[in-house]
Amino acid sequence: MNGVQRPVIIAANWKMNTTPLDASLLANDIAAATEVAGVTRVICPPYVSLESVSRALADTEVEVGVQNVHAEPFGAFTGEISAPMVVMFATWSIVGHSERRRDQGEDDEMIGRKLLRCAESGLRPILCVGEQLEDRQAGRAEDTVRRQLERTLAEVRRVAEIVPDDLVVAYEPVWAIGTGLTARGSDASAMAQLIRHTLSGAGIPGGAAHVPVLYGGSVTSGSIDEFLAEPDIDGALVGGASLKVDEMAGIVARAGLTAAARGSGSRQG
Ligand code: PGA
Repeated sequence: MNGVQRPVIIAANWKMNTTPLDASLLANDIAAATEVAGVTRVICPPYVSLESVSRALADTEVEVGVQNVHAEPFGAFTGEISAPMVVMFATWSIVGHSERRRDQGEDDEMIGRKLLRCAESGLRPILCVGEQLEDRQAGRAEDTVRRQLERTLAEVRRVAEIVPDDLVVAYEPVWAIGTGLTARGSDASAMAQLIRHTLSGAGIPGGAAHVPVLYGGSVTSGSIDEFLAEPDIDGALVGGASLKVDEMAGIVARAGLTAAARGSGSRQG
């Protein structure tokens, strides 16, 4: 850990699941089942459930995130939602998820601008990076992730010479998302080291030792330990399993043991 204490974070990405009514009930149940010291918990519901979930979680320590923000703050972008619109309800945003890179054609330049919008609005970004299966098979996984980060941060520096202080990076190998396959803990750890090295090389203020790196890709209560056993991995971005209360309870319980062992506490306390 290089002497730096980072928070342990479990973030739930509900993707395009739940209705507003289901979402507030599920959020309530997850909050009640995951009251564990030392773990920062974040739930990212669909936009339409943002208000109901933020109301359901108002008296808990679970924080609310969105799954995406637009690359511009306002304007003629029909159907889109921007960072300044959501800060009443959310304190986090996932940025650059591979499903959006795939389905909405998001590229690193656009993702860099989304990071800026998060920084301007005070949203903590969870920046997603990760290689495709063919990249890993061809031995290009590390190059791919390094390039994603460098191009994203180049945009951040070019536009405003800032890097969000609150940056969190999620390493999510694309081939592990929703497939039941997971990376090996040792591979995820090597990637976390590469991510911090690349961030440092890009001149992130204060160095990158303080930047939490999460693993994402088919994380369950059964697989989380492999990742939390790695000192360079600070938690998980959880998709499918985050829709199940018992799975979230198991994942956060294990994260709590890690937080206690590392002596790390949740930033928000
Ligand atoms: P998964 O999704 O846990 O269902 O693989 C993770 C993610 O896409 O963030």
